[in-house]
Amino acid sequence: MSLVNTIDRNNVPQHIAVIMDGNGRWAKQQGKFRVFGHKHGVKSVREVTEGAAELGVKYLTLYAFSTENWNRPKLEIDALMTLMVKTIKSETDTLMKNNIRLSTIGQTENLPNDCKEELKQAMELTKDNTHMTLILALSYSSKWDIVDSVKKIATQYKSGDINLEDINEELISNTLATKHFPDPDLMIRTSGEQRISNYLLWELAYSEFYFTDVLWPDFRKEHLHAAIANYQQRERRFGKTGEQVAKNKS
Ligand code: IPE
Ligand code: IPE
Ligand code: MG
Repeated sequence: MSLVNTIDRNNVPQHIAVIMDGNGRWAKQQGKFRVFGHKHGVKSVREVTEGAAELGVKYLTLYAFSTENWNRPKLEIDALMTLMVKTIKSETDTLMKNNIRLSTIGQTENLPNDCKEELKQAMELTKDNTHMTLILALSYSSKWDIVDSVKKIATQYKSGDINLEDINEELISNTLATKHFPDPDLMIRTSGEQRISNYLLWELAYSEFYFTDVLWPDFRKEHLHAAIANYQQRERRFGKTGEQVAKNKS
């Protein structure tokens, strides 16, 4: 039986967050420039997007470019931005066909103008789609988002709109870039690295983590299925005992 048939459709993660890593190493293994790996990573983006939508995942967040990635060589940044523009343009049809809404988190104002324009158009076109939301983390870092949230809250406090007692987890969640999305149930990182790299620090508080050695350009639907099947074997306790969780289930 293929792996996808073992997946319990009633226990599919509602939100999956992915750190798409390993493009550079994938290219290097073949004696090619890093950009070659980024280009091949686009197929993997399509595969996980389709794969997640097929299984009924409601939110998929992909880490496409971090704040720290601005420190890479200019040539690589330029190539990544050009690729982004091209990809958004070419994938909009697939998003429409699959009823997927496109959204972003991050300091997108720092992106080149043509990239901002493509994103704007694609988001406008897909805004009424309801099957799944694809969120691209672009020029994103979680510490930036948290700092931004603190500033918003401080401003509200200073102006008297809120009191000290109003500052709670809900208010913080509602001032983050991710405010319209539930916290991820599952976080997948490819390429064997086991770190968070400034991704969704607040939102991943109770997510299940799945690390695979597969490099991002090799990532296919089957790998997504394997991650979800693995997730379904976990017991999410949220601080409770295993006995309590079992009792609530029965
Ligand atoms: C992930 O692959 C893509 C981005 C960060 C944009 P990398 O480019 O980080 O590839 P490695 O980690 O160097 O192999
Ligand atoms: C994280 O990957 C960012 C993205 C996948 C866009 P990196 O490859 O930049 O992460 P570090 O710096 O090696 O941790
Ligand atoms: Mg990397």
